[in-house]
Amino acid sequence: MNTTDNEKKPDKQLKIMKQNNRLHILVVDSNYDILNFLKDKLTSAGYDTLTAQGVESALAVLDFKTVDIVITALKMPKGQADGLDLLRYIKDNFTTVEVIMITEYPEIDTAVQCIKEGAQEYIAKPFRETDILHAVDGVKQKIVRRRIASPKEKPVQFLGIIGVSPKMEEVFERIDRAAQTNANVLISGESGTGKELVARAIHYGSYRAESPFVSVNCTAIPDSLLESELFGHVKGAFTDAKRSRQGFFQIAEKGTLFLDEIGDASLGMQAKLLRVIQNKEINMVGSSQMLKIDTRIIAASHKDLKSMIPKGLFREDLYYRLDVINIAIPPLRERREDILPLVSFYLKKFSEEMELEKPPTFTDNALQALKNNDWQGNVRELENLIQRLVVIVEAEQIGVSDLPQSMRFNVNSKNSSQFKTLKEVEEEHLSLVLAGVGGNKTKAAQILGIDRKTLRQKIASSKFHISLDKK
Ligand SMILES: Nc1ncnc2c1ncn2[C@@H]1O[C@H](COP(=O)(O)OP(=O)(O)OP(=O)(O)O)[C@@H](O)[C@H]1O
Ligand SMILES: [Mg+2]
Repeated sequence: MNTTDNEKKPDKQLKIMKQNNRLHILVVDSNYDILNFLKDKLTSAGYDTLTAQGVESALAVLDFKTVDIVITALKMPKGQADGLDLLRYIKDNFTTVEVIMITEYPEIDTAVQCIKEGAQEYIAKPFRETDILHAVDGVKQKIVRRRIASPKEKPVQFLGIIGVSPKMEEVFERIDRAAQTNANVLISGESGTGKELVARAIHYGSYRAESPFVSVNCTAIPDSLLESELFGHVKGAFTDAKRSRQGFFQIAEKGTLFLDEIGDASLGMQAKLLRVIQNKEINMVGSSQMLKIDTRIIAASHKDLKSMIPKGLFREDLYYRLDVINIAIPPLRERREDILPLVSFYLKKFSEEMELEKPPTFTDNALQALKNNDWQGNVRELENLIQRLVVIVEAEQIGVSDLPQSMRFNVNSKNSSQFKTLKEVEEEHLSLVLAGVGGNKTKAAQILGIDRKTLRQKIASSKFHISLDKK
């Protein structure tokens, strides 16, 4: 929180992420007028609404967008996949997406079948606007309740955290636990290990998900401003205070305040934060009135805060207030199993962004080199490298010579000499394919040439864990 640090990170001035976390609804119907009617009504009711004119395009939307609820017509034009096919596909691949079916006329058999196959609601044509809104409202309650209560559902599955290593499994478990409580969380880890990603996973997995996630980088705000930025100020509090303004604590009311790089907060600011955390109330700069706040704190630092305590750089009492749940994200070089799934994930992501017909592949040696690299910049470094390679390499295959100089000598070093068991090879391949198809089990089973049931059994019996940005 000093100007030197501020200059060092010009692009990271003040970061505020306010997300309103509206529910995302996908409407599927072959009738354009119905699509428009529903989109209109649902958007006015405050939902983010997407439309698709058939099952095919619905699948594409599901692949790329976050969807919470699908409202689909049962009947589609002859020769095309219908709503029941879509329902089955969703229940197979997106366990948390809820489905509402619309049918041509009330017919109990169809209704029973849809509900049996996992549809949440069933509406018969002709329907009124309120029928749809009531159905959506019911499903919404279910989603909200599940977010609050379900211990089985891993919030990480919503937020694109990739990890197959036992060390990341442990991180996932802690995220899960943190999401179910209101306790303060302290996240540590080297730069680029995913601290902010984890903070968001906790917020969106918690009952606070409907309220804002506000991220404040303590390094980027000069100490003189931080107090009014955090707590707000009233009119006339200082010369420039022409009107009163809320601070981040108030903006994040009922949500989560992410205090990034807390190790850079001055001792004065640490004292103020401690008071706020203890008393759960703030006073705006220039006001003596105390305001109650309900904001969860998640703090993060790449510095080792504990070792700063004896040096008098970080307050011990604040440390223990923040460190109720501790999540230490290990560097990538200590969990090399995660490297290949991350490579696959980013290859797919950037190839799609570039609209390539097919993602390029890596030669075995190039993959080996990536796996053996020490990744000082962790996942961010790997992400940037894959993006660069997808953009600049024109060949279908990326070889060792395309990699940065420092990585080219990694082939056949420490980690490659050991022979693997067949099961290990199979598991590694499974996790690669799953990551490559964004976790879509139907597609993965097709590629692997096995049926979905066998795939599910293999996943259940293997030790790997893969979480993708899917609902
Ligand atoms: N396990 C992971 N799976 C997928 N993407 C990841 C993972 N970990 C990190 N990333 C990606 O790496 C980048 C860096 O992550 P993030 O900003 O959360 O790291 P950080 O620890 O906060 O870094 P810094 O200390 O530099 O602020 C982001 O683009 C994030 O999406
Ligand atoms: Mg960060």
